[in-house]
Amino acid sequence: MTSHEWKIHNPDGGKRVIVTKDLPGDRWLRLLIRADCRVEICTSTDALSVAEIKAAIGSHCDAVIGQLTENWGDTLFAALKAAGGRAYSNYAVGYNNVHVAAATRHGIPVGNTPGVLTETTAEMALALTFAAARRTGESERFLRAGKYQGWLPTLFLGKLLQGRTVGIVGAGRIGAAYGRMMVEGHKMHLKYYDLTPNSDLEAYIKDYAGFLKARGETPVTCERSDTLEDLLKTADCVSLHTVLDQSTHHLINAQRLALMKPDAILINTSRGQIIDETALVAHCRTHPDFRAGLDVFENEPALEPGLNELENVVLVPHIGSATSWTREGMAILAAANVAGILMGFPVWQQPDIAPFLKDNLPQAAPSIINALALNLVGPHGATTDR
Ligand code: DGY
Repeated sequence: MTSHEWKIHNPDGGKRVIVTKDLPGDRWLRLLIRADCRVEICTSTDALSVAEIKAAIGSHCDAVIGQLTENWGDTLFAALKAAGGRAYSNYAVGYNNVHVAAATRHGIPVGNTPGVLTETTAEMALALTFAAARRTGESERFLRAGKYQGWLPTLFLGKLLQGRTVGIVGAGRIGAAYGRMMVEGHKMHLKYYDLTPNSDLEAYIKDYAGFLKARGETPVTCERSDTLEDLLKTADCVSLHTVLDQSTHHLINAQRLALMKPDAILINTSRGQIIDETALVAHCRTHPDFRAGLDVFENEPALEPGLNELENVVLVPHIGSATSWTREGMAILAAANVAGILMGFPVWQQPDIAPFLKDNLPQAAPSIINALALNLVGPHGATTDR
């Protein structure tokens, strides 16, 4: 790393905050500056190594905003603690790159950015679903290659999803939003697999089914599958929305792919390691009517050999949350996590983080994963700007 790869804002600020990638918008920066932070931003687009981040932390650093491409384990939390660090926020809702127990051991609160990625990521899952079902990548490549000779009754026949069954694995915020989009937009029946029932989602779809019935239309159904296998066997399209941990690593493997309908669609906008990518490549090769839409990859940015040669796979480079609104919102939440802890504010205890996107921010850290373990949970303060 060279010094020109860092830019410094508010050099006289009393607290030193490292931001390992430049973030969109400027409200997040203003928020940190108002909290008396000197903000040092790495302008390189390369993922920083542990050694590079450790060097950037140096002997004095109050807080860091880091990225999902970085390995935040004991080494970095020890370095941050030794440098007087008091807060870390991931610029992501997912935090499989963070060893939260290590942070807790060092007494460092870890923030993430939930709530602003929900609809955006669900929309990407939807985009991949229809790109896969209607073969848009494949047909665009055909067109651009100058192969289109005119309309044909059999050209790029795809799959109609209206009225079929969509399966969601993990019915949390993003999974449920995707499920509702598929049900409301395309009158699909919904199956979901989740260790915890989502009664809100079930009630919502029941109400929607009542609305359709009242209009003389076929009502949609919603069912929680007892087993993942049942969902995989019966769904026409399966979208993955689980967190990545030991229990979900390679959740979709060769055996489970073999259970799916030969022309099913598999979508992944969560984390790449949930699918055994070697098994997926083999499955897609032997099942040409099977389709996959992937935003995330097992060893990203590398692709499993053979993946990018498959016509029945749609690939995008981990852009599920890539809208300006969401990425700016993530930056505000990450900055508010860090600033909130540095200012001694309590942790926000409500699932709705929308107040942090309005003009007057609550005096609280919006989302601290290890708040309970660190005894940081208390009543949130009154709404004031900072
Ligand atoms: C997250 O926030 O976890 C996403 O993967 C970023 O798009």
